[in-house]
Amino acid sequence: MLELDAITKVFRKRGPFGGGRSTVALDRISVRIGDGRTLGVIGESGSGKSTLARIALRMIAPDSGTVRFGGRDITRVSGKALRDFRRKVQPVFQDSAGALDPRMTIARILREPLMLRGDVPRAEWSKRITDILTAIDLSPALRDRYPRQLSGGQRQRIGIARALLMEPEILILDEPVSALDVSVQANVLNLLRDLQRDRGLSYLFIGHDLSIAEYFCDDILVLHNGVQKDFADAETLFRDPKDDYTRTLLAAMPRQL
Ligand SMILES: Nc1ncnc2c1ncn2[C@@H]1O[C@H](COP(=O)(O)OP(=O)(O)OP(=O)(O)O)[C@@H](O)[C@H]1O
Ligand SMILES: [Mg+2]
Repeated sequence: MLELDAITKVFRKRGPFGGGRSTVALDRISVRIGDGRTLGVIGESGSGKSTLARIALRMIAPDSGTVRFGGRDITRVSGKALRDFRRKVQPVFQDSAGALDPRMTIARILREPLMLRGDVPRAEWSKRITDILTAIDLSPALRDRYPRQLSGGQRQRIGIARALLMEPEILILDEPVSALDVSVQANVLNLLRDLQRDRGLSYLFIGHDLSIAEYFCDDILVLHNGVQKDFADAETLFRDPKDDYTRTLLAAMPRQL
C-alpha cells in the first residue's frame, strides 16, 4: 500500500570556503509496506532510518525515486489528495511525548486532530476523546491533566492517540519506545499490536533493538550507510540472513527472546 521505489537522498554540507561534503543518506532504497503489516527498519545510527521515515511522511523530498500511496505518487500530489495523504499516514516519534504542549490539558491536545480533520461534529469531540483514551488503556479521567502529570509511557500513549484520532491507515513509528523504561516498552508495543489488529493499521517501525524488531515486525529492511543490505520477511531474515552485513549486525547485537 505504501511503496518506496529507488529512493535516493543526498545531504550537502557547505564548507566555510565553498565546496563541502555530501552524505548519501539513502541510496536507491526500494521497499513496500503491505496492508496490515509492519515493516521494520534497522541499522546503526546514521544509516538513514529517520530520513526514510521523513520521506515516507513527505516531510522532506527525495532527490530521486517515488513514494506511492494507494498507487499514487505522493511526491507530486497537492490540494485535496495531499491533505488526504497527510491524514492517512501519521507519525509517532520518539519525542512525541516531549512535543506535547505543556500548557494544554490532554483533552485540549486531543481536540487538535479533530479540529484539523473538520469532519467530526464538535458535539462528538468529547466522546471521541473518551473513546480513544479507553482504546489506549488510559483512564478518561486523565483528560483534565497536563502532560507533566503523566508518566513517560502515558505521554507516549497520548502521542499515539493523537495520531489515531486522524483515523490513519499507516503509522510511521520512529523509535516510538526508545525513550521509555524497558519495563514500559513492552506495554506500549503490545498496545500498538492490539491497535494494529483492531484497526487494520500498517506500520513502518524504526528501532535499534533487534529482539524488539524480531518480535514486532513482519518484514525487515536492513540499512547500512544508506545502502539497502537486506529486505525480507522477519522470520527468514533472522533465521537465515543473506547479507554479510546483516549477519554481522545480528551477531553483534544480543537477542533475548
Ligand atoms: N537535515 C540534514 N542535513 C544534513 N545531514 C543530514 C540531515 N539529516 C540527516 N543527515 C545525515 O544523513 C545520515 C542519515 O541520518 P538519519 O537521521 O536518517 O539516520 P538514522 O538511521 O535515523 O540514525 P539514528 O539511529 O541515530 O536516529 C546521517 O549521516 C546524518 O548525519
Ligand atoms: Mg533516527
